Amino acid sequence: MKTEAEVCPNCSGSGWKLVPQAPERGVMRCDCQLRARGGTLLTAACIPKRYEHCELSNFTTDFPGADRSVSLAQISAARFVQEFDPRDGRGLLLVGGIGTGKTHLAVGILKELMAARGSGCMFCDYRELLKQIQNSYNDSVKATELQVLRPVFEAEILLLDELGAVKPSEWVWDTVSLILNTRYNDNRTTIITTNFADEPAAGVMRSMSTARAAAREETLGDRIGERMRSRLHEMCRIVRMDGPDFRQKFKSASFG
Ligand SMILES: Nc1ncnc2c1ncn2[C@@H]1O[C@H](COP(=O)(O)OP(=O)(O)O)[C@@H](O)[C@H]1O
Ligand SMILES: [Mg+2]
Ligand SMILES: [Zn+2]
Repeated sequence: MKTEAEVCPNCSGSGWKLVPQAPERGVMRCDCQLRARGGTLLTAACIPKRYEHCELSNFTTDFPGADRSVSLAQISAARFVQEFDPRDGRGLLLVGGIGTGKTHLAVGILKELMAARGSGCMFCDYRELLKQIQNSYNDSVKATELQVLRPVFEAEILLLDELGAVKPSEWVWDTVSLILNTRYNDNRTTIITTNFADEPAAGVMRSMSTARAAAREETLGDRIGERMRSRLHEMCRIVRMDGPDFRQKFKSASFG
């Protein structure tokens, strides 16, 4: 039983508060509930230790050599949180080189949505996920493929980190399609990061000479297939992040 002192003064313990003004007019979960739920959600989101420090508020765009695209990406991230509507299902695709802060921003978004909205989130490393699925085919492993995939299908908001980081194969393509199509069909929000340029697969660019094709860097189209790349464009708003690797730049400095 709760003592008088523990009862939330804002909702008298009901867990709900009235919001009289538009645009959020109606009954909303009280902040005390969000705080309690926030802790549980954070644990359930499985954010890896190395990204635990990542917040939108400690993302800096004020350093020498900072690329303008990074400031714009920060604005997009903040706006995404502000305008988030779970019914809409539209996510973000953060595209850019290593260390430009893609995962940092994506984790920052997750944390804001958990704290402010009580959304259920899940961090998912693409390589790790595919490894786990492959493992589930092994008879000695207890988890079935569906047990691995269900939370990925059902998370209210999924962060799929490092999309494309596994060498493509028929199986990889099928698995990516299964994940993205399931979430697309259920209209669920997916936030994605990738180091591969959001450009077509080699086969699509027929005019390219063989030599040029061999020299060119692999694209997202090469890694997940052209069909899934175009599906991503329906699911996500594309945000580019260019510029230096933050870690290289500030190795000995006090940032991050
Ligand atoms: N603009 C930034 N402000 C603060 N920390 C940053 C920034 N960009 C990157 N970092 C930090 O640098 C490291 C690499 O960033 P990360 O988001 O993992 O890059 P990416 O996912 O693009 O490869 C992380 O520890 C991150 O917190
Ligand atoms: Mg990353
Ligand atoms: Zn309350």
